[in-house]
Amino acid sequence: MKNKLRSSRVVIIGTGAVGATTAYTLLLRERISELVLIDANKEKALGEALDMNHGLPFTGGVKLWAGDYSDCADADVIVIAAGASQRPGETRIDLLKRNAGIFDNIIQNIVKYNDHGIILVATNPVDILSYVTLKKSGFPSNRVIGSGTLLDSARFRYLIGQNKKINPRSIHAHIIGEHGDSELPLWSLANVAGIGLEFSEEDRKEIFNSTKNAAYEIINAKGATSYAIALALDRIIVSILQNEASVLNVSTLLTDYNGVSDVYLGVPSIVDRSGVREVLDLKLSNEELTQFHASANKLKSEIANLDL
Ligand code: 2OP
Repeated sequence: MKNKLRSSRVVIIGTGAVGATTAYTLLLRERISELVLIDANKEKALGEALDMNHGLPFTGGVKLWAGDYSDCADADVIVIAAGASQRPGETRIDLLKRNAGIFDNIIQNIVKYNDHGIILVATNPVDILSYVTLKKSGFPSNRVIGSGTLLDSARFRYLIGQNKKINPRSIHAHIIGEHGDSELPLWSLANVAGIGLEFSEEDRKEIFNSTKNAAYEIINAKGATSYAIALALDRIIVSILQNEASVLNVSTLLTDYNGVSDVYLGVPSIVDRSGVREVLDLKLSNEELTQFHASANKLKSEIANLDL
């Protein structure tokens, strides 16, 4: 029997590729008891719910339905995966104007019914939209989390694993900063069983470029990314609901963190039932610090143009 929390409700807003795949992942994992799908296109949410419900005889007892914002009232975690996704050639930042516009309405509807849950933002540009969610919801920052660089770190670990011929689960390595083009790798912390890893300059370049450009490659090939982000979101949700205190590179509000304040960026954080309990103190090299500041400044200059 899986360790399922009694009456844990997750609401997913937006049933596009990411929202629907996340729902399916949660369904297969069977770690939650209730799952609600909301979409501006009600038919789409209904269709996804129906399709997944027909799989319940083969899975377990997750109660799943297409609902509306009033279902947020009893939600423990509310995932926002609504909005436009990148078309081939677009950056995540290119989505900002389109997606910030729909967040007003989404956040207003959430806070109308819920003042206690944790909002998990997946819509891009995820760091900026997490900041927008913080400002518009009035929730404390520990309860507004972005998926951040958890996915990028997973891609990084996979590619390092391929290079070293070691299972990626045994590779510890971090990508921090923007979930996007200004992110940075922390090579000095990459390790297996606490043992540092050596790479040639050429390998470093190739591994990091493949990590950073993974979404572009996948979007060119199949139109959207969905499976790995869904697994990353599942990881964050389970860490919250099971009060795991796992260390995950989520996007969180930084305050006087390596000289950076008042912006959301992906950094190693302890995630438990309270949301982000604590941000781990990273000691960055001068070069990493310069890149980290550049990432923060890039996002801050975009935030400055928003009406918050
Ligand atoms: C990803 O990295 C597109 O942000 C999405 O897969």
